[in-house]
Amino acid sequence: MTSHAEDEIDRAWWKEAVVYQIYPRSFNDSDGDGVGDIPGIIEKLDYLADLGVDVVWLNPVYESPNADNGYDIADYRAIMDEFGTMADWEELLAGLHERDIKLIMDLVVNHTSDEHEWFRRSRESKENEYRDYYVWRRGRTDVDGWTGHKGPEGEAPPNEWESFFGGPAWEYDERTGEWYLHLFDVKQPDLNWENPDVRDDVFEMMEWWLEKGIDGFRMDVINLVSKPPSVAANDPPTNESDLGATIDGPRIHEYVREMNDRVLAGRDLLTVGEMIGSGMSMEEATAYVGEDGDGLSMLFHFEHVLLDRGERFWDVADWNLTDLKGVFSKWQYGLSDDGWNSLYLNNHDQPRMVSRFGDDGEYRRESAKLLGTLLHTLRGTPYVYQGEELGMTNCRFESLDEYRDVETLNPVRSALDGGEIESFEEVKEGLWANSRDNARTPMQWTDGERAGFTDGEPWIKANPNCREINVEAARADEDSVWHYYRDLIDLRKEHDVIVYGDYDLLLPEHEEIWAYVRTLGDERLLVTLNFSGEETPFELPDRIDVDGATVELLVGNYGDAETNVESFVLRPWEARVYRVT
Ligand code: GLC
Repeated sequence: MTSHAEDEIDRAWWKEAVVYQIYPRSFNDSDGDGVGDIPGIIEKLDYLADLGVDVVWLNPVYESPNADNGYDIADYRAIMDEFGTMADWEELLAGLHERDIKLIMDLVVNHTSDEHEWFRRSRESKENEYRDYYVWRRGRTDVDGWTGHKGPEGEAPPNEWESFFGGPAWEYDERTGEWYLHLFDVKQPDLNWENPDVRDDVFEMMEWWLEKGIDGFRMDVINLVSKPPSVAANDPPTNESDLGATIDGPRIHEYVREMNDRVLAGRDLLTVGEMIGSGMSMEEATAYVGEDGDGLSMLFHFEHVLLDRGERFWDVADWNLTDLKGVFSKWQYGLSDDGWNSLYLNNHDQPRMVSRFGDDGEYRRESAKLLGTLLHTLRGTPYVYQGEELGMTNCRFESLDEYRDVETLNPVRSALDGGEIESFEEVKEGLWANSRDNARTPMQWTDGERAGFTDGEPWIKANPNCREINVEAARADEDSVWHYYRDLIDLRKEHDVIVYGDYDLLLPEHEEIWAYVRTLGDERLLVTLNFSGEETPFELPDRIDVDGATVELLVGNYGDAETNVESFVLRPWEARVYRVT
C-alpha cells in the first residue's frame, strides 16, 4: 500500500464535504396537507447549518403522479404542486447558498413517468417522432410453456424479465399492439438511450438545471441506461430472463462519458451515480470514477446493503461483521489510488442503519454513534440521511394498509393474490426489517403526536418513538446522537487525515471489533469499534508501532477512555477514535 504524504493530496471540495439527504415528502410540512414541502425545508435551513453539513441532496421534487414518490417524472422542469413552486425552489437554493451549503439534485433519466409528454406522444402511434424515445417491442407468439403475464390472444412479453418491483418488466399497450419496457413500475417506462434525441434532450435538461446554479447531481440507477443488445437492437424477441443483463450494459461508459463531455466537464460539481447490482469489480468502478474514467466524482454501490437480503423481498438473511468489513475494505483499498468512495449506511431505499447494523433497543444511542463514527472516519464522502443524526429507527407497521411504498406493496399483493402467502402476518416481520417505508416515516422534530412534522394527517404514519427520539430533545441533551454527529462533522474540517488518510484494516477476522488505522504523513488515527453488546478486549497488532507516540482520544461515544492503546477493553457498542502522532 502506498502511503500518501500531505503534499500529495488531490483536494476537491466534494471530498471534504458531508452530504445531508432530504426526502422532501417526509421532512417538514409547512401547509398542513400531510406532505412535506419545499417551504418546509426552508423553515429548517438553520437546522442544517447548525448541524454543519456542506451539501444537501434533494430527492426528486419534479412534477410527478407519485407512483414511486417522485421517481416517476412527468415534467423535468416543473416542481410538484404538493411540494411548492419554482419560486420556492429558487428561494431554497438561495437560502442554502447563503449558508454555504451546496445543493445537488436527483437526476432520474433511466425512465420517466408514463404521464410525461414524451411517453404520451410515444404511445400514440408507431410513426410519431417520440416513438423511439422508449423501448417498444413486439410480443412473442411462441408461448408454449409460458405461464406468466400475457397480452392479447396468448401473446407473451418480448422476454421474461421481471421488473425490480415485481411482475413482468413489459406492458402491453393496446393502441399500437406493442409492449413497452419498464424495469421498475408499470408507470415508469424506460427511456431508450440508443436514440441520440433522447440523450440530447436529457443533456439539455441537465444544462438548464445547472444554469440555475445547482452544484451537482445524484444520478438515479444510472448504470441501467444501456440496455443489452438483444433489446436495444430491436431484434426479434428473446427468452432472456435475467434482468442482470441490464446492469452496466454494453454502451454505458460511452453514455456517461458523453454526458460528462457535453454537460459536466469544466464545472466543479459533485456527481454521484447510483449503481444498482452486486459485486462490481474495481476495474468497472474506476471506469466510472477513476482519473481516466467517465468523469463521475463517486458512485453508490449496493454491496453492504445486500448482505442481509434473502431471495424474496421480505426474506432477511444474517449478516456478520467480517463480511461487512470485507465489503467496505474492498472499496477502501480498491479506490485508494484512483477514484473516490461515497459512504452511506442508509437512505430512502434502505432500512434505518441503527435497526439494521446496530441495536435499536438498549444500546440505540451508543450504536447510532458508533455507526456515525464509522461513516465519518472511513475514507470517502459521508452521506447522512435525514433522521440518522437522531438515531431514528425502523417502524413497526401493523397492517399492509399502513404501507405506502410500491416496492413493498406490489410483491406482497401479488404474493397474496397468487397464494404464495396466506396473510400479511407471514411477512410482517420481514417487512419490519426490509421495507423502504422504514426510512420514510416523518422526520421527528418534536414529541408531538405527529412528530412535529405536520399539523394535518401525515401521508405515512409517524414512528411512535418520536416521543423519545426527536430533534427538540436531542438538541437539549449534550449527550445525544445529534451532538455527537455535529462533533464528527466538525472534526472532518479540522483534520485532513480524516478525509484523505490511507486506510489500513486491523484484525480482519475479528467478529466483534472493526478496527483500522488512517494515515496521512505523520498523522495517524486509530479507530476501534465494538459491534456487540458485550465488553470486548482489543489488542493492537504488533505491526502498528506506537512506541513513544503521543496518543489522544479525538472522539468516543462513552466520553472518555484511557490512552494506552496497546490493549484495552471496549464497552458495549463503544467507538473510540485516537489521534496518534
Ligand atoms: C432508485 C431510487 C428509488 C427508485 C428507483 C427507481 O433506486 O433511489 O427510490 O424507486 O431508483 O427510480
